[in-house]
Amino acid sequence: MQQAIWTFVLFWSISLTTGGDIRVTCVFTSDCVLPCKSMYHDIIKWYKDDTENAVHTFNNNKDHLEYQDAAFRGRTSLFTDQISQGNVSLLLRMVRIEDEGIYTCYTSSSFEDLEIIVRLDVKAPIKRVDIKFTDKEITCNTSKVYPKPIISWYENHSLQTNITPETPKDDQGLFSLKSIFTYKQDKQSDTTRNQSVKQNTTYTCSISFEDKSQTYNASLRQEKVDIYSGQDANIHCPVSRGDAGDYTITLRFGESSIILKPQLNNIPEQLAGINVHLAHDGKVTLHNLDMDKHTGTYICETFTAQSTIDVVQTSVQIISDIHNNGIAEVLGAVVVIMAIISLLIYYLWRRKEQKKRNEENLRENEVNEEVELKLKPLSGENPSSDPGSDSDF
Ligand SMILES: *[C@@H]1O[C@H](CO)[C@@H](O)[C@H](O)[C@H]1NC(C)=O
Ligand SMILES: *[C@@H]1O[C@H](CO)[C@@H](O)[C@H](O)[C@H]1NC(C)=O
Ligand SMILES: *[C@@H]1O[C@H](CO)[C@@H](O)[C@H](O)[C@H]1NC(C)=O
Ligand SMILES: *[C@@H]1O[C@H](CO)[C@@H](O)[C@H](O)[C@H]1NC(C)=O
Ligand SMILES: *[C@@H]1O[C@H](CO)[C@@H](O)[C@H](O)[C@H]1NC(C)=O
Ligand SMILES: *[C@@H]1O[C@H](CO)[C@@H](O)[C@H](O)[C@H]1NC(C)=O
Repeated sequence: MQQAIWTFVLFWSISLTTGGDIRVTCVFTSDCVLPCKSMYHDIIKWYKDDTENAVHTFNNNKDHLEYQDAAFRGRTSLFTDQISQGNVSLLLRMVRIEDEGIYTCYTSSSFEDLEIIVRLDVKAPIKRVDIKFTDKEITCNTSKVYPKPIISWYENHSLQTNITPETPKDDQGLFSLKSIFTYKQDKQSDTTRNQSVKQNTTYTCSISFEDKSQTYNASLRQEKVDIYSGQDANIHCPVSRGDAGDYTITLRFGESSIILKPQLNNIPEQLAGINVHLAHDGKVTLHNLDMDKHTGTYICETFTAQSTIDVVQTSVQIISDIHNNGIAEVLGAVVVIMAIISLLIYYLWRRKEQKKRNEENLRENEVNEEVELKLKPLSGENPSSDPGSDSDF
């Protein structure tokens, strides 16, 4: 009874000085040390709360693994050369999800014993998140992570709620996650109009662990660039904001892809016969575009060391050259129109001239007639056309 109280007091004081249980987080499949210090070395025994047999037993200066729990066979050892200095830590190799739990490091000498509690958490970090557009939705997925991940979606940095996550567990106890984001229905558009990706809008899926020990952001954006053939196209590649950490930019077009680096010199890189130049602000210039070969979708992906992937899909459309041919066409049209107008003006002028000439002829004739009339006033009756004679009736 008294010993129990003493153990309790001792444990209480350890808790006070260490601020609670010792907690270690081990990465799935890696090797991990469960720390323990004690000056009692006659018996060293590691237990796990939910296993019947010991995890590791050491006495008389050697390992005694006859009764070791099967789950730990071949995966444990002590740092035997350091035991005399009080290091009784346990080395656990190839950490599994089932290794997670509460361990007790029990040590004793002929007079004293000591128990130290170590809590082991296992983590399988999020190494990659894939995000892609499908017909009317965006899917985001990851796999082989632990513990259970949670996901949130953002549209232009504002939190969204229309999501459906699935998190099945595999046979190693790891989780995968697939989430589908459906575009928000517009008020006016109903069943008749299909929703599609909004241009220039950043869709972000943020996958994290509940304790926020890791957050992985994947974002996707669709842009559109129309150019005339012969022009260069400017597209955007996302570059890490703020601190210029480690990042890799990959540009894809069809089956081809290149890793881009901001260039100090001006030597462009080649992608599918295109000269590509990346500026420090993420602007990518595509030179020498061929209308038939290079119309299509360019995908630029930026991975950063801070667990993010940003994807920009730019649809580049090359329109036949209205700029050069167009000017000729316009000029041609102008020439034709001007010719027509000139002809019309000439025709009208001719008509006017002719009319004038006709009128002049007419007037000349009239004058001649008058002269004739004046010349022969007495030659016969008044002309019938005389209005004066009509009114007499
Ligand atoms: C015990 O020794 C190992 C191997 O050198 C070391 O990694 C560990 O931190 C030591 N533990 C303690 C509690 O000193
Ligand atoms: C996402 O899902 C696709 C298709 O099921 C798969 O090929 C890909 O490996 C997954 N990505 C990750 C990061 O698990
Ligand atoms: C992930 O994206 C969200 C929404 O844009 C943002 O609030 C958060 O800070 C991002 N987290 C990281 C680690 O980049
Ligand atoms: C909507 O999409 C479906 C299939 O994705 C297609 O069959 C249908 O024609 C589309 N409707 C309109 C109005 O675009
Ligand atoms: C997207 O942004 C570009 C410029 O960055 C602009 O030319 C284009 O009109 C925008 N598209 C939409 C649909 O807002
Ligand atoms: C998101 O922001 C961009 C400008 O940065 C804008 O063109 C786009 O329409 C916005 N999308 C939504 C859905 O608000």
